[in-house]
Amino acid sequence: MSEILTLKNINQYFFQGKNKVEVLKNLNLSISKASKIAIIGSSGSGKSSLLNIASLLQSPISGDVFIMGKNAARLKDSEKSFLRKKNIGYIHQQNSLLMEFNAHENIYLTLLLNGFNTSYAKEKALELLKIVNLDNRALHKPSALSGGEQQRIAIVRAIYNSPEIIIADEPTGNLDKVNSYKVIDELIKISNINSTSLLLATHDMAIAKQMDKIYQLNDGLLLEYKE
Ligand SMILES: Nc1ncnc2c1ncn2[C@@H]1O[C@H](COP(=O)(O)OP(=O)(O)OP(=O)(O)O)[C@@H](O)[C@H]1O
Ligand SMILES: [Mg+2]
Repeated sequence: MSEILTLKNINQYFFQGKNKVEVLKNLNLSISKASKIAIIGSSGSGKSSLLNIASLLQSPISGDVFIMGKNAARLKDSEKSFLRKKNIGYIHQQNSLLMEFNAHENIYLTLLLNGFNTSYAKEKALELLKIVNLDNRALHKPSALSGGEQQRIAIVRAIYNSPEIIIADEPTGNLDKVNSYKVIDELIKISNINSTSLLLATHDMAIAKQMDKIYQLNDGLLLEYKE
């Protein structure tokens, strides 16, 4: 079975003055192609820390992160950033759209910043908007979009590059139930179409249950959650 992402013996802790705050203890996790994993756990249990480490945004104190079999710790910063951009689509809890730009521009600018030419970026951005049924909102700025619509744009912005894995940190944390489920439906649909893996942190058990496997973070340990 091909592993997309593997976390091996990850330890993460912080010092608050003299107090050691242990966040992740010797944590292991393996995500195979097209599998969908939910991480649940109370506030402060380390979900964001885990996702940030998995997406190479943060380095652990010790342990290794393998993306497509490559050990990120062994790579130069530029190689790490390439590995990340090529394989990981990251979705934040808070919408991370640029407020001065409309929906179409928000996607289009991401493509431009990643080296695509103007005409391709414009065309592709429109195509991506269609995937989440928001082509009729192309000219709306984020302030004129619902929270759910904003997150659906954040989703397509994360997947323009056909990443191997989508990592989403409470992508529906600020949404009501109806919008949450719409966003999750889109995420699942897109993952299924592209055989993309999904690693998602959530507080919502109904959402967690839509994944293939649920893990719970508790006291720095990650255990499979079974009812
Ligand atoms: N830079 C830091 N310095 C010190 N402590 C930190 C730092 N970053 C995170 N922590 C602590 O690590 C713990 C885990 O934080 P994390 O953000 O990963 O939790 P979380 O499960 O995502 O919580 P939430 O559900 O509220 O988003 C918390 O107790 C937090 O206070
Ligand atoms: Mg968090």
